[in-house]
Amino acid sequence: MNLLVTGGAGFIGSHFVLRHKEQFPDDLIVVLDQLTYAGNKAFLEPVLNRIRFVQGDIADVELVSQLILRYEIDTIVNFAAETHVDRSIKNAVPFIHTNIVGVQALIEVCKAAPAVRLLHISTDEVFGDIADDDAPRKNGDPLYPSSPYAASKASGEMLLLSAMRTWKLKIAMTRCTNNYGPHQAEEKFIPTVVRSAVKNEQIPVYGQGKNKRDWLYVTDHTDALELILKTEWAFWDAKLPGVHESQPRGSGHIFHISADDERQNIDVAKMILKILGKSEDLISFVEDRPGHDWRYALDSSNTRKLGWKPKVSFEEGLKKTVEWYKRKL
Ligand SMILES: NC(=O)c1ccc[n+]([C@@H]2O[C@H](COP(=O)([O-])OP(=O)(O)OC[C@H]3O[C@@H](n4cnc5c(N)ncnc54)[C@H](O)[C@@H]3O)[C@@H](O)[C@H]2O)c1
Repeated sequence: MNLLVTGGAGFIGSHFVLRHKEQFPDDLIVVLDQLTYAGNKAFLEPVLNRIRFVQGDIADVELVSQLILRYEIDTIVNFAAETHVDRSIKNAVPFIHTNIVGVQALIEVCKAAPAVRLLHISTDEVFGDIADDDAPRKNGDPLYPSSPYAASKASGEMLLLSAMRTWKLKIAMTRCTNNYGPHQAEEKFIPTVVRSAVKNEQIPVYGQGKNKRDWLYVTDHTDALELILKTEWAFWDAKLPGVHESQPRGSGHIFHISADDERQNIDVAKMILKILGKSEDLISFVEDRPGHDWRYALDSSNTRKLGWKPKVSFEEGLKKTVEWYKRKL
């Protein structure tokens, strides 16, 4: 494959690039990343001399089109996004730019180069939160985003669905639950807990810390993406009848990825403190985030049917993650 990985210097994108290059050394990888506060070229250090790195904006149609032509790209994997809910509550404008205008720009590029496949990475947050006794969200369930971040991701999805139908573009999407692991921007929950604990500072936990998240180790996510890419490749190559025809409208080509291992935030904070040998007294409850989602859960049976399941237990993944952040401090 000749891959354009957008947002490839961010948390999940960098893991995808590192693992893909290791598994498929002959594939060409071009990373396009704007290097916002969340991107870090150094994450790609082990492969930098074997990939092409371009700093730029996915909303720049001309730039992306040039990259497609110059490097004969056949597949785009889009990780580029503004991703932090708290930032979107303060100022949603950058979220509209990258998560909506940027996605439409990639669609424009694919319209001009319809042989190119686009795998877009989305999130469980598009469904909004669910109650403790609700079933995990399935493909085709209605979207009720709670934050500007989630609304911008849901909008991007809508544009992609319309592009699949109107121009029959080769688009697939994934929605994943919360990821954790090395390379995550330091303001996110797990890095914040580790950093504060190591420095013996108060650990800010929203509300009473009872909100639930389903944590997936980042390389389990990228493994699922590789499998989906492989499967979708075969799908498009074989020119099979569109999944659109056999499934409820809009639900074809959308894959759910989840660990099915939900934890309350407070329990995650306590586990980290235990790994670090620190006191739970460091936990400090702070005023809840406005519109804070209670719980997310996804039914990931369509990805599991492809043969994927998570390999890294939460205990093992959390230990590795804590060690990595400790080393970086
Ligand atoms: N982190 C999670 O828990 C999680 C869970 C589910 C889905 N997702 C989705 O996965 C994708 C990647 O998330 P992440 O946590 O790695 O994000 P991140 O914030 O760590 O990284 C995003 C990357 O995109 C780049 N970027 C931002 N705007 C850009 C633009 N206009 N053009 C080019 N590059 C740009 C940034 O520089 C950064 O490298 C996002 O679409 C996110 O919605 C994340």
